[in-house]
Amino acid sequence: PGVRPLIAGNWKMHGSLSEARSLAGAVAQGKAQGQADLLVCPPYPYLLPVQGALAGSDVALGAQDCHAAAKGAHTGDVSVPMLKDCGARFVILGHSERRADHGESDAAVRAKAEAVLGEGLVPVVCVGESEAQRVAGEAEAVVAGQLAGSLPDGFAAAGGVVAYEPVWAIGTGRTPTEADIAAMHARIRAELVGRFGAAGETLRILYGGSVKPGNAKAILALPHVDGALVGGASLVAEDFLAIASAV
Ligand code: G3H
Repeated sequence: PGVRPLIAGNWKMHGSLSEARSLAGAVAQGKAQGQADLLVCPPYPYLLPVQGALAGSDVALGAQDCHAAAKGAHTGDVSVPMLKDCGARFVILGHSERRADHGESDAAVRAKAEAVLGEGLVPVVCVGESEAQRVAGEAEAVVAGQLAGSLPDGFAAAGGVVAYEPVWAIGTGRTPTEADIAAMHARIRAELVGRFGAAGETLRILYGGSVKPGNAKAILALPHVDGALVGGASLVAEDFLAIASAV
């Protein structure tokens, strides 16, 4: 109750500069008044031009990762102050592709989340089980463990966002049943309230994994689903906007 939905687009490593500009422009133009909050997260080199394309709109800008340190000898990495300088207000952290491709642990995600909070930005911390873990009946325990290890103490005070993304549903066209999504989101809510008290009641819990215009309405209507983290469908402005309209 009272939680404003957030529809976030994770563009991952897709698109050209001109495509990023025109996608951002189309999202900014197409956003209806009073709709859910919208967020787009382009690749690092496109943050500034996308910020330009979003100017004057209330579509927020976010990054897909960051380094935990504010500066230093970390070739190829990007710090939170740099992201903030480019207009980012949110940072996705601990996406399963980061956890898999770069071996990011819960502790690493937590350190990055602390850096994000330290600059006054909002972390979007991703959690989710593998297919083997789901089959083994371990999904909720895995996610609870990821939350315990990945969320810093200041998470709730900063209005942090949790994104539940079952790894096997990402980019596959498969989604959990509505009952399974609802059960997991209820468990995540319970974990947040257990850890942060009343503040945990109003933190946004997004669902991610093969969200499309055709399934968005049913998913977004489930209890404790406060928005979506959208991959593939966020690359097509009309699909992303259709998902936002389904809230
Ligand atoms: O961050 C977004 C997710 O990984 C979902 O990706 O919508 O392409 O399945 P997808």
